[in-house]
Amino acid sequence: MGDRENIKNYAIGVFDSGMGGLTAVQELNRILPNENIIYFGDTARIPYGSRSRETILRYAKEDVAFLRRHEIKMIIAACGTVSSVALNNPIVTDMPFTGVIAPAIEAACKATKKKRIGIIGTPATIKSGSYIHAIADTHPEVMVVPQACPLFVHLVENGYTDFNNPVTRLVAQEYLTPVKNENVDVLILGCTHYPVISELIGDIMGKDVTLISAGAEAAKFTKQCLMKQGLLSDRSEKGRNTYYVSDSTEMFEENAVNFLHENVHGDVFRSNF
Ligand code: DGL
Repeated sequence: MGDRENIKNYAIGVFDSGMGGLTAVQELNRILPNENIIYFGDTARIPYGSRSRETILRYAKEDVAFLRRHEIKMIIAACGTVSSVALNNPIVTDMPFTGVIAPAIEAACKATKKKRIGIIGTPATIKSGSYIHAIADTHPEVMVVPQACPLFVHLVENGYTDFNNPVTRLVAQEYLTPVKNENVDVLILGCTHYPVISELIGDIMGKDVTLISAGAEAAKFTKQCLMKQGLLSDRSEKGRNTYYVSDSTEMFEENAVNFLHENVHGDVFRSNF
């Protein structure tokens, strides 16, 4: 790594198994518009959420190695699944790093009045117990209702994101009704794909339930972290986002608009590990 003055203007590295991490990128663009972002979406190997711990960890290390081929100053594992398995197996130790668990928990525990939080995520995330253990450690008074939502990632990656989509609504009702019945007042969207259907999730949960986006919270944490370390960019112009994917760039370009609400054409490249 170069000296600190140069490092300031290095990019923030963000990765996910697919497009979910774009929910973190969207928030980064909003709160840190001058930063460059290098994004890696492992679209050839998605979903991670139904794989074993060992496989997820191996993929995550390869994703990090890919990001390290660029000039980056911090890494965000913008994936609830990777963050869950990496909680006790640090995958980055030599530069600032964050997953999504701790930032999401902090926001959720601050928001809950009833001390009852729902948490939805991929099967691997829920099975790992990551959110539950972390909340039990830091906020033992809070009760957690976990629910795996295995089909959500597929629906989102395939663009079934419309508020009125009958398939997505039916699936969401099936997953969310038991959580709603537990009378939670906060729901953590513990997989970074889920905020894309947050309108629909919110409609089912009811207006009194606060939704927490794990990706957006990780982005906010990143700002704090870079600020504390004196690593915020001093660039005066808008930063640039560059996206790399391990599979079709076309599909990514088409669907990215559901996450970012802007066109990414021309900024997406196919990468090999
Ligand atoms: N976006 C990933 C997460 O936050 C999940 C997608 C997957 O299953 O690969 O958990």
